Amino acid sequence: MKRLLWYLHFFSTIKVLAFSYSRLPFTDSPPSIRQYACADYYTKENSLIIFGGNQGSDINFNDVWEFNLTANLWNSLTPISTTYPNPRMFHGCWIDDDNSMLYIFGGRSNSGPLNDLWRYDLVNLQWKQIDQKGDIPSARSAFAWTKYKDSDGNLKLVSFAGFLKDEYTNELYIYDVPSSTWTKKPAGTQLPPVSYISH
Ligand SMILES: *[C@@H]1O[C@H](CO)[C@@H](O)[C@H](O)[C@H]1NC(C)=O
Repeated sequence: MKRLLWYLHFFSTIKVLAFSYSRLPFTDSPPSIRQYACADYYTKENSLIIFGGNQGSDINFNDVWEFNLTANLWNSLTPISTTYPNPRMFHGCWIDDDNSMLYIFGGRSNSGPLNDLWRYDLVNLQWKQIDQKGDIPSARSAFAWTKYKDSDGNLKLVSFAGFLKDEYTNELYIYDVPSSTWTKKPAGTQLPPVSYISH
């Protein structure tokens, strides 16, 4: 039994070591040319994280890149995990600085609009699809996205407006990160009456 535990410990240590050596050094090589990617600022590392985008016609991306603003260099954050989000464009992305996570939601793949939510561990380079709860937004792309912390310090991801399967929308959704729950804000009369895309 003791020996078994030792083996388990040994192999999990090797795994951790393997992960910590997986980051490639920063280089001068930028990501390939693209449009409709997303980016968010990674405060802890003073860097920008970029995900996905489109290179014209049907070529979409699902790669993650980091631009180090201190060194002015690019780094490809190639995942170790065997699952990862489909290539897409017009999606949203948000950095959770406290937990070194990148969240990505929705967007458009070659087969249409999406509403899947994924989390990328920026330290261990692992993707994980998230079980979303609450008022899950329908599939959409080209929404405006931002984030904030509420008065309790909970990180919130915001999605506003955009394009659904074949119509524009002015819906406002807020995702609470700690509880994995979406809330749709009431439309009321105060929201803009017209829908917009690509803010
Ligand atoms: C960014 O570059 C600086 C200066 O070379 C370096 O000290 C820092 O570790 C780099 N950041 C990351 C995330 O590697």
